[in-house]
Amino acid sequence: MEKMLEMLKERLTPGRLSHSLGVSETAGKLALQYGTEPEKARIAGLVHDCARELPNNILLQKAQSFGIVISDVELANPSLLHAPVGAHLAKADFGIEDEQVLQAVKRHTTGAPAMTVLDKIVFLADYIEPNRFFPGVDKLRETAKTSLDDAVIAAYDQTLQFIIAQGGLIHIDSVAGRNFMLMKLRK
Ligand SMILES: [Fe+2]
Ligand SMILES: [Fe+2]
Repeated sequence: MEKMLEMLKERLTPGRLSHSLGVSETAGKLALQYGTEPEKARIAGLVHDCARELPNNILLQKAQSFGIVISDVELANPSLLHAPVGAHLAKADFGIEDEQVLQAVKRHTTGAPAMTVLDKIVFLADYIEPNRFFPGVDKLRETAKTSLDDAVIAAYDQTLQFIIAQGGLIHIDSVAGRNFMLMKLRK
Protein backbone atom coordinates (compact mmCIF):
# COMPACT_ATOMS: atom_id res chain seq x y z
CA MET A 1 0.00 0.00 0.00
CA GLU A 2 3.02 2.31 0.43
CA LYS A 3 3.66 2.25 -3.29
CA MET A 4 -0.01 2.96 -4.04
CA LEU A 5 0.06 5.91 -1.68
CA GLU A 6 3.10 7.35 -3.46
CA MET A 7 1.33 7.02 -6.81
CA LEU A 8 -1.81 8.63 -5.44
CA LYS A 9 0.17 11.63 -4.23
CA GLU A 10 0.91 12.40 -7.86
CA ARG A 11 -2.73 12.18 -8.90
CA LEU A 12 -4.67 13.74 -6.06
CA THR A 13 -4.76 17.07 -4.22
CA PRO A 14 -3.81 16.92 -0.52
CA GLY A 15 -7.49 17.24 0.43
CA ARG A 16 -8.51 14.32 -1.75
CA LEU A 17 -5.58 12.29 -0.50
CA SER A 18 -6.71 12.82 3.12
CA HIS A 19 -10.21 11.79 2.09
CA SER A 20 -8.81 8.62 0.46
CA LEU A 21 -6.84 7.75 3.59
CA GLY A 22 -9.97 8.36 5.65
CA VAL A 23 -12.03 6.06 3.41
CA SER A 24 -9.29 3.43 3.61
CA GLU A 25 -9.21 3.50 7.40
CA THR A 26 -12.99 3.63 7.82
CA ALA A 27 -13.49 0.82 5.30
CA GLY A 28 -10.94 -1.31 7.15
CA LYS A 29 -12.82 -0.85 10.42
CA LEU A 30 -16.19 -1.58 8.83
CA ALA A 31 -14.74 -4.72 7.25
CA LEU A 32 -13.63 -6.01 10.65
CA GLN A 33 -17.05 -5.23 12.05
CA TYR A 34 -19.06 -6.76 9.21
CA GLY A 35 -16.93 -9.81 8.55
CA THR A 36 -15.07 -9.20 5.31
CA GLU A 37 -11.36 -8.92 4.56
CA PRO A 38 -10.03 -5.63 5.99
CA GLU A 39 -7.02 -5.60 3.69
CA LYS A 40 -9.24 -5.58 0.60
CA ALA A 41 -11.40 -2.85 2.12
CA ARG A 42 -8.35 -0.72 2.93
CA ILE A 43 -6.93 -1.07 -0.58
CA ALA A 44 -10.27 -0.35 -2.27
CA GLY A 45 -10.77 2.66 0.01
CA LEU A 46 -7.33 4.01 -0.71
CA VAL A 47 -7.60 3.93 -4.51
CA HIS A 48 -11.36 4.50 -4.90
CA ASP A 49 -10.94 8.09 -6.15
CA CYS A 50 -7.76 7.56 -8.19
CA ALA A 51 -9.53 8.93 -11.29
CA ARG A 52 -11.45 11.67 -9.47
CA GLU A 53 -9.28 14.54 -10.62
CA LEU A 54 -9.09 13.67 -14.28
CA PRO A 55 -10.78 16.32 -16.42
CA ASN A 56 -14.09 15.37 -18.04
CA ASN A 57 -12.68 15.03 -21.53
CA ILE A 58 -10.01 12.61 -20.30
CA LEU A 59 -12.57 10.63 -18.30
CA LEU A 60 -14.71 10.27 -21.41
CA GLN A 61 -11.70 9.35 -23.49
CA LYS A 62 -10.49 6.73 -21.00
CA ALA A 63 -13.98 5.32 -20.52
CA GLN A 64 -14.18 4.82 -24.27
CA SER A 65 -10.75 3.25 -24.50
CA PHE A 66 -11.60 0.83 -21.67
CA GLY A 67 -14.81 -0.17 -23.46
CA ILE A 68 -17.08 1.27 -20.75
CA VAL A 69 -20.60 1.83 -22.07
CA ILE A 70 -21.33 5.51 -21.41
CA SER A 71 -24.95 6.27 -20.49
CA ASP A 72 -26.71 9.55 -21.29
CA VAL A 73 -26.53 10.58 -17.65
CA GLU A 74 -22.79 9.91 -17.58
CA LEU A 75 -22.35 11.86 -20.80
CA ALA A 76 -24.13 14.80 -19.18
CA ASN A 77 -22.17 14.36 -15.94
CA PRO A 78 -18.83 12.75 -16.84
CA SER A 79 -17.44 12.96 -13.30
CA LEU A 80 -19.63 9.92 -12.55
CA LEU A 81 -17.20 8.00 -14.73
CA HIS A 82 -14.39 8.41 -12.20
CA ALA A 83 -15.67 5.25 -10.48
CA PRO A 84 -15.63 2.79 -13.41
CA VAL A 85 -12.56 4.46 -14.97
CA GLY A 86 -10.92 4.35 -11.53
CA ALA A 87 -11.52 0.60 -11.36
CA HIS A 88 -9.72 0.14 -14.69
CA LEU A 89 -6.84 2.38 -13.60
CA ALA A 90 -6.61 0.52 -10.27
CA LYS A 91 -5.84 -2.55 -12.35
CA ALA A 92 -3.75 -1.03 -15.14
CA ASP A 93 -1.70 1.45 -13.12
CA PHE A 94 -1.88 0.27 -9.50
CA GLY A 95 -1.58 -3.43 -10.31
CA ILE A 96 -4.69 -4.47 -8.38
CA GLU A 97 -5.96 -7.77 -9.75
CA ASP A 98 -8.57 -8.65 -7.14
CA GLU A 99 -11.96 -8.50 -8.87
CA GLN A 100 -13.80 -7.86 -5.60
CA VAL A 101 -11.65 -4.82 -4.89
CA LEU A 102 -12.04 -3.54 -8.46
CA GLN A 103 -15.82 -3.99 -8.29
CA ALA A 104 -16.03 -2.03 -5.03
CA VAL A 105 -14.11 0.84 -6.69
CA LYS A 106 -16.38 0.66 -9.73
CA ARG A 107 -19.55 0.83 -7.64
CA HIS A 108 -18.50 3.37 -5.03
CA THR A 109 -20.30 6.43 -6.40
CA THR A 110 -23.69 5.21 -7.55
CA GLY A 111 -23.93 1.89 -5.78
CA ALA A 112 -25.61 -0.93 -7.70
CA PRO A 113 -28.09 -3.75 -7.16
CA ALA A 114 -26.78 -6.81 -5.29
CA MET A 115 -23.77 -5.13 -3.73
CA THR A 116 -21.36 -7.33 -1.82
CA VAL A 117 -20.42 -6.50 1.77
CA LEU A 118 -17.16 -5.05 0.42
CA ASP A 119 -19.05 -2.88 -2.11
CA LYS A 120 -21.33 -1.56 0.63
CA ILE A 121 -18.43 -0.84 2.95
CA VAL A 122 -16.51 1.25 0.42
CA PHE A 123 -19.70 3.03 -0.68
CA LEU A 124 -20.51 3.88 2.94
CA ALA A 125 -16.95 4.72 4.03
CA ASP A 126 -16.86 7.29 1.22
CA TYR A 127 -19.70 9.13 3.03
CA ILE A 128 -18.76 8.77 6.66
CA GLU A 129 -14.94 8.91 6.76
CA PRO A 130 -13.71 11.40 9.38
CA ASN A 131 -13.06 14.27 6.93
CA ARG A 132 -16.70 14.37 5.87
CA PHE A 133 -18.84 17.11 7.35
CA PHE A 134 -22.46 17.44 6.24
CA PRO A 135 -25.76 17.61 8.09
CA GLY A 136 -26.70 14.12 9.17
CA VAL A 137 -23.23 12.56 8.92
CA ASP A 138 -23.09 11.81 12.66
CA LYS A 139 -26.40 10.00 12.54
CA LEU A 140 -25.12 7.99 9.57
CA ARG A 141 -21.96 7.08 11.54
CA GLU A 142 -24.15 5.89 14.41
CA THR A 143 -26.32 3.79 12.10
CA ALA A 144 -23.17 2.25 10.59
CA LYS A 145 -22.31 0.91 14.04
CA THR A 146 -25.45 -1.21 14.20
CA SER A 147 -26.54 -2.01 10.64
CA LEU A 148 -24.57 -1.86 7.41
CA ASP A 149 -27.72 -2.17 5.29
CA ASP A 150 -29.63 0.55 7.16
CA ALA A 151 -26.62 2.85 6.83
CA VAL A 152 -26.29 2.19 3.10
CA ILE A 153 -30.00 2.93 2.56
CA ALA A 154 -29.69 6.12 4.61
CA ALA A 155 -26.68 7.11 2.48
CA TYR A 156 -28.68 6.51 -0.70
CA ASP A 157 -31.59 8.53 0.69
CA GLN A 158 -29.39 11.46 1.65
CA THR A 159 -27.61 11.48 -1.70
CA LEU A 160 -30.77 11.27 -3.74
CA GLN A 161 -32.43 14.01 -1.68
CA PHE A 162 -29.36 16.18 -2.14
CA ILE A 163 -29.28 15.62 -5.91
CA ILE A 164 -33.00 16.34 -6.22
CA ALA A 165 -32.64 19.53 -4.17
CA GLN A 166 -29.94 20.62 -6.63
CA GLY A 167 -32.10 19.72 -9.61
CA GLY A 168 -29.53 17.14 -10.66
CA LEU A 169 -29.70 13.96 -12.70
CA ILE A 170 -30.05 10.64 -10.91
CA HIS A 171 -27.98 7.69 -12.11
CA ILE A 172 -30.07 4.61 -12.80
CA ASP A 173 -27.74 2.42 -10.68
CA SER A 174 -28.51 4.52 -7.60
CA VAL A 175 -32.23 3.93 -8.05
CA ALA A 176 -31.75 0.24 -8.81
CA GLY A 177 -29.34 -0.18 -5.91
CA ARG A 178 -31.65 1.49 -3.41
CA ASN A 179 -34.71 -0.43 -4.66
CA PHE A 180 -32.77 -3.69 -4.35
CA MET A 181 -31.84 -2.98 -0.73
CA LEU A 182 -35.38 -1.94 0.24
CA MET A 183 -36.93 -5.04 -1.31
CA LYS A 184 -34.34 -7.29 0.28
CA LEU A 185 -34.94 -5.81 3.74
CA ARG A 186 -38.72 -6.08 3.41
CA LYS A 187 -38.59 -9.77 2.59
FE1 LIG B 1 -15.54 9.01 -5.71
FE1 LIG C 1 -14.51 9.51 -2.47
